[in-house]
Amino acid sequence: MSEIKKRLSSILESPNHNIEAKLQKICHLLDQEIPYFNWTGFYFKNGDKEELILGPYVGAETDHTVIPFGKGICGQVAVSNETFVVPDVHDQDNYLSCSIDTKAEIVVPIIKNGENIGQIDIDSHTLDPFTTEDREMLEWLCDEIAKIY
Ligand code: SME
Repeated sequence: MSEIKKRLSSILESPNHNIEAKLQKICHLLDQEIPYFNWTGFYFKNGDKEELILGPYVGAETDHTVIPFGKGICGQVAVSNETFVVPDVHDQDNYLSCSIDTKAEIVVPIIKNGENIGQIDIDSHTLDPFTTEDREMLEWLCDEIAKIY
């Protein structure tokens, strides 16, 4: 297991923190360890409503605290149930801008018992920065979060 996965695992397994605190620590760890992760946060489905609510995050404050399903990259992942990697946000028509510095984005869904309950969203100030390893690590992380959510 990679070093970062080990550190993420120890946060997820910590008996001393609730889920919110664990997600906040995960945001801090990813933000600290991966230089091109410049906004790292979670969105979760708002009960039975077809909208996402902003959860724990690290990065600049965002106007997008509520995102309707289908809107932006996050809203699209809420309905596609699949990872969405955007190497260059300027190529996307259906995109919600959080910061003029953001050049790329990756959103990975959190699927629990077959249901899309939320997602991790990472913005980068670097063009096309996300590697296959990043994607694999984030998909692993979302599977692990689903187990404790
Ligand atoms: N860019 C996202 C909105 C959320 S912010 O990046 C924090 C989108 O298009 O859904």
